[in-house]
Amino acid sequence: MTTSQRWLIRLGDSAAWRARRPIAAALATTALVLVLAVTPTASDVKAASMFDSLRSPGQVAFIAGHRGEKVLAPENTLPAFQLAIDSSAEFVETDVQLTSDGVPIIMHDWTLDRTTNGSGPVWEWTAEQISALDAGSWFSPDFAGTRVPTLEQFLDLVWTSDKRAILELKGSWTREQTALVSQQVRTAGMEDRVLIASFDVVTLQAVAEVAPHLPRLIISRQVTGDPSILAALCGAVAIVTSKAFLEREPGAVDRIHEAGLGVLVYTLNDEKTWGEAIALGVDGIITDSPTELERWLDGPSPWAHDG
Ligand code: G3P
Ligand code: CA
Repeated sequence: MTTSQRWLIRLGDSAAWRARRPIAAALATTALVLVLAVTPTASDVKAASMFDSLRSPGQVAFIAGHRGEKVLAPENTLPAFQLAIDSSAEFVETDVQLTSDGVPIIMHDWTLDRTTNGSGPVWEWTAEQISALDAGSWFSPDFAGTRVPTLEQFLDLVWTSDKRAILELKGSWTREQTALVSQQVRTAGMEDRVLIASFDVVTLQAVAEVAPHLPRLIISRQVTGDPSILAALCGAVAIVTSKAFLEREPGAVDRIHEAGLGVLVYTLNDEKTWGEAIALGVDGIITDSPTELERWLDGPSPWAHDG
């Protein structure tokens, strides 16, 4: 045993040290508590930096164009996405499903009937068949012949802008299926500009396993109990929820923020609800009318800002 080892043992056994041990333990505990208190958790860092900051009540929220700019062009088509890109929306939101031959395409409804001249479930059609459908005439003859975009086409379009994308994976996805999406995101060079959203925790868990670098948003019309538990289940950085829930549960926005999570609200399309959401302190507003929301924010509204 070396002299210094002997010295350490003597020090450890000394009466003076034993007397001071409780004080040392208390100091160590205090130091640990201080470190934990001032060190943000991973989700604090992610949500706040991802959305510039977590808003306070009255601070202007960012805009996400829901299915593009769906009031001015057929939803979830390239013209609708281009309009949202041309607005001051920070995000373009869209919905992703798989065709019968496993190609990720852009479509909200389970069936093709409402927004195309096809019919029946999306998953019964091949990508080639879907690519021949008219996804614009139902909206206006001006958009006749507009096609259902693939995810690849959507990503390529958003890539040409400075916008970010929210990809909502509709329904439930396996790991292998989510891997297809992350592969396309990588190929498009959009890895740092894509967030994956879903109502389905298991789907987001699959994304977390396959592509942990892609931030995740859990969509839930309402949150029962501790929001951090829901978010932790799938490593979500934010919760997408309804204004009705936030109003019904006073302090909900604060509780979600205190958990280090962002709050996005869907889908708000008029000045009254935009103002109410901003007053609540949400971080992002998902809207069918990003151009109109931008105009309202820049106009004489109480939330008018410089840019
Ligand atoms: O992002 C939330 C919202 O898009 C979810 O609802 O039905 O419009 O896809 P839905
Ligand atoms: Ca959606």
